[in-house]
Amino acid sequence: MRKQPSTLIVLKRRGRVSLQSQLVGNLKELVRTMILRPGEGVPSTRELARDLQISRNTVVQAYDRLVGEGYLEAHPRRGLFVSRSLAQTNLEISQPEAAANLPTAFPDSVGVALPRPFRPCQPDVRLFPIALWSRIHGRILRAGSPALLAYQSHLPLGLPALRKALADYLRESRGVKCDWRQIAITSGSQQALFLLAQLLLRPGLIVAMEDPGYPGARLAWNHAGARLRLASVDSEGMKLSLTDNCSTRLIYVTPSRQFPTGACLTLGRRIALVQFAGESKAFIIEDDYDSEFRYSRPPLQSLQSLDSFGRVIYVGSMSKVLFPSLRIGYVVLPVSLIEPFAALKSLADDHSPLLDQATLAQFIETGAFARYIRRCRREYGDRLQTFLESASKLGLPLKFPHTDGGMNVAGLLDRQADDREIAGRLQRIGLDIPAISSYAIKRVHPGLIFGFTAFSPATIKKSLEAAARVLVCPVQC
Ligand SMILES: Cc1ncc(COP(=O)(O)O)c(C=O)c1O
Repeated sequence: MRKQPSTLIVLKRRGRVSLQSQLVGNLKELVRTMILRPGEGVPSTRELARDLQISRNTVVQAYDRLVGEGYLEAHPRRGLFVSRSLAQTNLEISQPEAAANLPTAFPDSVGVALPRPFRPCQPDVRLFPIALWSRIHGRILRAGSPALLAYQSHLPLGLPALRKALADYLRESRGVKCDWRQIAITSGSQQALFLLAQLLLRPGLIVAMEDPGYPGARLAWNHAGARLRLASVDSEGMKLSLTDNCSTRLIYVTPSRQFPTGACLTLGRRIALVQFAGESKAFIIEDDYDSEFRYSRPPLQSLQSLDSFGRVIYVGSMSKVLFPSLRIGYVVLPVSLIEPFAALKSLADDHSPLLDQATLAQFIETGAFARYIRRCRREYGDRLQTFLESASKLGLPLKFPHTDGGMNVAGLLDRQADDREIAGRLQRIGLDIPAISSYAIKRVHPGLIFGFTAFSPATIKKSLEAAARVLVCPVQC
């Protein structure tokens, strides 16, 4: 015997989706799977409401939607029927199949989550003064002019107030030489890297970068079709042979703290690099992603501060000092690149969100930014101490060559170790500690990258104890 449609309808009473939308979805599915065929009548609203124990109004509205979308048609005095026109239609491409074809690289079922220990490069967003930020944001919305809500296509490089505040900050804290008009606000520093790749590279041009190095940058160069010249990294940072002919178009470097090893580029190498770029007309991108976090000494002066040729492009981010989902980064451009960069940014997204930029400008101007950096510096410094003390007590088979700052420490393993295999074992016990070799193209000294800033001292200790059970065990145990 044919089942009543109502027996095939499943509604979640306490779900987040309204009963009406659930009913619409269920009925579409019955049509799609031909349980309700074109030309067939559907139950009356009274009948269906009674069977499903829902209000008749809900059924009336669901049916109205289905009529509006062409799934049902009304026949005067006879009732509602599945549209006959669907008989010629291939309903197989309706939602369930379409959903099955969606890429799975970015699962949306997971929702938002905090990072697991010891995911690198993660600030502790729980420390962020949300109440203060939202007060500033609210004040701007209430008192500010409605113009902040309109397109401001003449500001592709960002809000002047923020660019001026940043220019002061960078001059003061990092010795960056710039006029505020050289600053462009981007959607995270990742967008700055992407746009610079589009601006400066063409297929076949050469980009020199550190290996191991930052994958986000490498992907941007690859996407522009550039060829990579990989420079190894030692205790003095990027080791680039500068006897090169003039074919290197771009040098990407993380001089304050090499990503991911943590080495700091020595002054001698900095001077040589800038000299080389000046003479060979290459550009240098200085990615200064976390330089605010030096715990025992003030931040280092930037590479850009040594440049008298106008070849260094300085890139920074609010992701580590504030919070990553803000997606605000910035780039200090040589004068010759301001206009072409503005044109490209405009093409990409007109401009980055202005309300956030205005909020950030005031956050900086009122001193809250400097206070928050000081607070994080203290907190993260303590966490680094906890990390190193616990690692030493546990006798981990790791050497930590660079421990004076940053958000991560690289722990070097024995030269023969298989760091990816070890990272895989750590992953299986719930720890997120990537292998150094996962950031490299060539063979590099094996090791593990521990981010320590996003986790409380208690979590650091507990998680390191768990890691020790894997690390002190030479084979799978
Ligand atoms: C070296 C380096 N550069 C750039 C970024 C990207 O930062 P943003 O969030 O500003 O895109 C990261 C992020 O972890 C990074 O590690």
